[in-house]
Amino acid sequence: CLLAGSVLAIGALPGTALANDGYDLWLAPADKGAAAAEVTVIGDSQTLQLAAAELRRDLTAAPLPVVLARADAPELAALGLPTAMLGAEGYLVCAATVAGRPSLLVTGNSDTGVLYGAFAAIRAQKTGGDLAKLDLTSTPKVRLRVLNHWDNLDGSVERGYAGQSLWDWWTLPDFKDPRYTDYARANAALGINGTVLNNVNASPDTLSAAYIAKAAALADVLRPWGIKVYLSARFSAPIELGGLKTADPLDPQVQAWWKAKSDEIYRAIPDFGGFLVKANSEGQPGPRDYHRTHAEGANMLAAAVAPHGGVVMWRAFVYAETDPDDRAKQAYSEFKPLDGKFADNVLVQVKNGAIDFQPREPFHPLFGAMPKTPMMLELQITKEYLGFATHLAYLGPLFEEVLEADTRAKGKGSTVAKVVDGALEGHDLTGMAGVANIGRDRDWSGSTFNQANWYAFGRLAWDPTLSAEALAREWARQTFGDDPRVVDTAVSMMMESREAVVDYTGPFGLAHLMDTGHHYGPGPWVNDLARPEWNPIYYHKADRSGIGFDRTRTGSNAVAQYAPPVARMLADPRTTPETELLWFHHLAWDWKMKSGRTLWQEMVVRYDRGVATVAHMQRQWDGVKDKVDAERWSKTATYLAIQHNEARWWRDASLVYWMSVNGLSLPEGSLAPE
Ligand code: GCU
Repeated sequence: CLLAGSVLAIGALPGTALANDGYDLWLAPADKGAAAAEVTVIGDSQTLQLAAAELRRDLTAAPLPVVLARADAPELAALGLPTAMLGAEGYLVCAATVAGRPSLLVTGNSDTGVLYGAFAAIRAQKTGGDLAKLDLTSTPKVRLRVLNHWDNLDGSVERGYAGQSLWDWWTLPDFKDPRYTDYARANAALGINGTVLNNVNASPDTLSAAYIAKAAALADVLRPWGIKVYLSARFSAPIELGGLKTADPLDPQVQAWWKAKSDEIYRAIPDFGGFLVKANSEGQPGPRDYHRTHAEGANMLAAAVAPHGGVVMWRAFVYAETDPDDRAKQAYSEFKPLDGKFADNVLVQVKNGAIDFQPREPFHPLFGAMPKTPMMLELQITKEYLGFATHLAYLGPLFEEVLEADTRAKGKGSTVAKVVDGALEGHDLTGMAGVANIGRDRDWSGSTFNQANWYAFGRLAWDPTLSAEALAREWARQTFGDDPRVVDTAVSMMMESREAVVDYTGPFGLAHLMDTGHHYGPGPWVNDLARPEWNPIYYHKADRSGIGFDRTRTGSNAVAQYAPPVARMLADPRTTPETELLWFHHLAWDWKMKSGRTLWQEMVVRYDRGVATVAHMQRQWDGVKDKVDAERWSKTATYLAIQHNEARWWRDASLVYWMSVNGLSLPEGSLAPE
């Protein structure tokens, strides 16, 4: 047939790799021509068999036979391996003589640990490691490494840009789409061990018997891959589902309802992870409706899941119009006094910044401020504010910046990473959540490069000290192959991409400047929304005299929520990092920047630099056209063209608006010729 013929013809063009639709993610099969590894499994669990299948599929030309075994296997007893330090989920991959045979041993204290070891060996080989010398040991630094799907029961995904929800609720629980298994494999390869199936703006029906059965079917698919299922719970479900008159957490009937509901869930899903809750935020019900605290609400749910070993992830993303002073202060004001009041199986889940996943935000002041409470970091993988699926923005540097931020809570080096991994405050229960960017698109995440954000999140949740650049390289090699020109190009584009978005959407700590509702494209002029803190005007406060939100003592004094050395640094614009200048200060348009230019001149430079960086990314991508398969190359090229147009849109609309406010003109020759 003509169509098939033409497709083949494209694939056969000299120098053009075969088509690739991105479905394989970082699990692209190894070179089919090379010999598969010889793999022996000691033990008979399903997880070990899956690990073996991964190795047989993807590990090639192994110099030694591979042996998979849990550390407690009798065959390993005489080896005296240092497996105690691996904990429950860590792995060890090394050469060892097992049952008299020199082997490449993959081991861990649990089946899942072995599975992670198998994926680590494959990753090592695909990224250039020498199997003959492999000696890998790693233990996750964070216990709960969880994706948050904002998926609705009708198949839509809140802030989802990769198609409909992966979960086909209609055909569940009977039909288990093989894609669920591929999802599990991709996550297990990164060490992700939990998934919240539904939107934080939760429907009460999620907790109905019919949906519990569907969640249980998914849990059955994910379990052998070491992944637990969690559900977002709507706080008022006892009313909507249970027919009670109240959802007051201190009401015995409400407590009994949640207990019975939890028991019902655990009967269907014995290893159910627990609940994620968005309460008293953006119109969601919560304990405050009954004049109870967040701790009282969380603890009530925690008591219901505790007998089964479950946890509650209680979100601190709260703000209400009753406190119009500064939205950025509200979570801290409400949660800080509750430190020490949460039950042992509660984590408080805190977004990386105090507003809402902006292209750049200072770290959230709650990190380091609640030492008695496990603080779970919530990152957004889906790019709600960074150009949806179309703009290329590698989030590794954003995640890294947050994790490396120094809260100074216990002196220098009290990084957010150390708060999150429990090292700073001695917590054993720790967690990191990523709002998923996964949908039913063939390439899962809406674009090839978006896959890297899922990848970086998963790897950082395992070890928050990994470097964003190293992860970019790792991902690029597994995604595009070994050609150094392609890998270097992809890494270079990725590493400049996030800063480009900051530049063209709002430099120097400007934030929340996007258009209403959809959050796509500029809208710094918007000032007619019902709640003051929904309007961009509220955040930038630009007028003829200057621009920026004064969060020092002369303004909202949000800086006082940080530990004293940080608060002192941020109180003075001369010591505030320029990247966050206008987040904390209202400054005159002619404020002198470090470059010697005025603030206004420098803003123009940055907006324009953002556009120029996207053009640079385009040129780099053009340079590898003959090295990347046609399908992924051209989709990326088209998306970069969209991004370039829209970067100009952001720049031009923003500058024109600022000029209408400040009465200034563009500095002579300031915009780079196109
Ligand atoms: C943002 C986002 C909402 C989401 C909310 C949340 O405000 O726009 O769609 O529900 O965050 O994190 O709860």
